Amino acid sequence: MAQNIIAANWKMNNDEYSSKKLTYEFLKLLNRKNDPKTLKVLCVPHPFLLSIDNMCTGTESVFVGAQNCSSFKQGAFTGEVSAVMLKSLGIKYVIIGHSERRELFSETNEELLNKVLLSVERNISPIFCCGEPLIFRNKNNHLEYVINQLKETVLKLNKESFQKVIIAYEPVWAIGSGKTASNEEIEEMHVAIRKTIKQKFGSSVSKNTSILYGGSVNVFNAKEIFKINDVNGGLIGGASLQAQEFIDIVNSIS
Ligand code: PGA
Repeated sequence: MAQNIIAANWKMNNDEYSSKKLTYEFLKLLNRKNDPKTLKVLCVPHPFLLSIDNMCTGTESVFVGAQNCSSFKQGAFTGEVSAVMLKSLGIKYVIIGHSERRELFSETNEELLNKVLLSVERNISPIFCCGEPLIFRNKNNHLEYVINQLKETVLKLNKESFQKVIIAYEPVWAIGSGKTASNEEIEEMHVAIRKTIKQKFGSSVSKNTSILYGGSVNVFNAKEIFKINDVNGGLIGGASLQAQEFIDIVNSIS
């Protein structure tokens, strides 16, 4: 069975004080009712990884993740943060291939594959994002587009490495827009992704792969989305910046 996961993507928001305050409030609310079957991953900006991770230590099923890592192993790459560095802080998750990285920083599938390889080599699970821009959905090419993103990246891993990967389907047009994909659109894509994983790695790997949905998930739509076939949780952006709202989303999954 695939693990249920709710991941927060804080993006480039908050300073250290407000990040700690948000974490404090989140943990306080979570401690009233913490279902250990659902993994909670807070993907925070690099400077706060250690302090937020320290705060979460001791709370069951809560982990801290990074939002990116370098496609290079080490060396003269000013400003980059390597998978080795994340590992040395005890970080176990990293978002890779978010559409903002692909679009605004021109990250290619080739670079993303390198990032994935370097992460899994360090036993860090990539939360690998895929998703189609609106133009491909309008042309009815969305399935092909997303499956191709996976074929050029995570599906190139060997079976053992792939088992560390978490997939997050995030239609680009639904991110931060308030427009969620319909339940049918989400199900169609998640089913297609799982089928492709099955074709490549077999049914036991495909059944165990967590496939998250992301894109304008909020407290009002979370419950319905998490009930959809082949959806194992969510990657939450804007709504993860309010402790109560994020907790309500976490509690929407069963
Ligand atoms: P959103 O962002 O929930 O604000 O749409 C999701 C994401 O970018 O991961």
